[in-house]
Amino acid sequence: MKYFIKTFGCQMNVHESEKLAGMLESLNYLRADKADDADVVVFNTCCIRDGVEQKIMGNIGAIKKLKKANPNMIVAICGCMSQADGRSDMIFKKFPFVDIIFGTHNLHKFKELLTCFKDNHQKISDVWSEANGIFEDTNIVRDDMFSNAWVNINFGCNNFCSYCIVPYVRGRERSRDYRDIVRECEGLVSSGYKYITLLGQNVNSYGNDFEDKSINFAFLLKKVAEIEGDFKIKFMTSHPKDLSEEVIKTIAQNDKICKVIHLPIQSGSNQILKAMNRKYTREHYLGLIELIRKYIPDAYISTDIIVGFPGETEENFLDTYNLVKTVRYDGVFAFMFSKRSGTVAYSMPNQIDEATKKDRIHRLLQLTKSITKEKNQELVGKTVDIIAVHEVDGLFECMTDSGKTIFVNGKLTPNNFYKCKITKFANNKLFADLI
Ligand code: SAH
Ligand code: SF4
Ligand code: F3S
Repeated sequence: MKYFIKTFGCQMNVHESEKLAGMLESLNYLRADKADDADVVVFNTCCIRDGVEQKIMGNIGAIKKLKKANPNMIVAICGCMSQADGRSDMIFKKFPFVDIIFGTHNLHKFKELLTCFKDNHQKISDVWSEANGIFEDTNIVRDDMFSNAWVNINFGCNNFCSYCIVPYVRGRERSRDYRDIVRECEGLVSSGYKYITLLGQNVNSYGNDFEDKSINFAFLLKKVAEIEGDFKIKFMTSHPKDLSEEVIKTIAQNDKICKVIHLPIQSGSNQILKAMNRKYTREHYLGLIELIRKYIPDAYISTDIIVGFPGETEENFLDTYNLVKTVRYDGVFAFMFSKRSGTVAYSMPNQIDEATKKDRIHRLLQLTKSITKEKNQELVGKTVDIIAVHEVDGLFECMTDSGKTIFVNGKLTPNNFYKCKITKFANNKLFADLI
């Protein structure tokens, strides 16, 4: 018997699919390369933007003919879209061939749901309205994403940014016990993982739900960095309202922590930030960037931006555009605002038309493209940390801590860390010599 999991959305979902795979393999299912060969097909869904939901519906629809060819195929839908209000009824109505729907709060129950369906062939819809604690995992089948292992540190989100559906589909913030996190990381290091990425919607609020206020994100970073072994730590995502100087210093002072910070700004306009309920100002954000650059001059800084939030004027957009020009990000993920039902921004007046959104995102992407190019050019002559991936055409393809590809001259061993000196940026590729 074989399974196939199709994952949409963020790293949280990618990691949760690894837990689903763990459950399926403990039931003796083997991984299939495509849905056609699978006895169980799972869609782990996302609902962050309408476009994502549309794409998922297209993907679920395409399963209809596979199910016709193989009526015993079991189709399960889970994740954030299943969890969102009204979606499970809609999915069953639109796709009557779906067998099981469950939400984000009862992911750990998948094995039971599947067994139950196999026993009595009754459609199952089991979406819990609330999270019920934290379930420590027994079996995770990790994807072979090059040498990186995801580790949850906190679940859910309390921030209620006015555009965002995550707090409604992921529940309130819950932090994992740091001892469980450290134990999991120790196991990963001893099994050879070179990167550990600590995951949370807002890693900086790790521990806010603990009575012991000394257990915070900086504390956790230090604890994980104390683990013996040749590995590095990454984390995502940081919220600007909670990123502390202590965390920045901890990153700066610790060789094991990658100098890579994803710090979503969302908008460069104070008026829009307020309407987004982001709880920081442009000035506070720029202060953080200054602090990061003071302690970590070579930090790789990336961000998320939403264009076309309700009421965003051309002037507001230019505030964002100019902020991007000032910060000179190493990476920008830009999105057009998408109305999510249930969120505050859904019913805000002055919704922006699609053409304006497209024009703004286009201008922003043009700008970020030219900054990225300049930044790559500036890397020439610099020394950077890399991990060796594999040999291609006599060169070694390597990856920086931030995920950039560099082609290195020299004999390297895959999955080992090295330092290299960048010699050339040509045809959008970086080349380097081993040090
Ligand atoms: N917890 C993270 C990531 C949330 S989702 C954080 O707080 O940064 C990832 C990104 O999707 C967000 O940073 C935001 O830029 C974008 N996003 C969220 N809701 C959106 C919406 N309704 N429309 C467009 N983009 C959205
Ligand atoms: Fe969404 Fe804001 Fe929470 Fe991020 S911090 S998940 S953008 S509500
Ligand atoms: Fe999407 Fe859920 Fe992540 S809505 S972005 S998969 S938390």
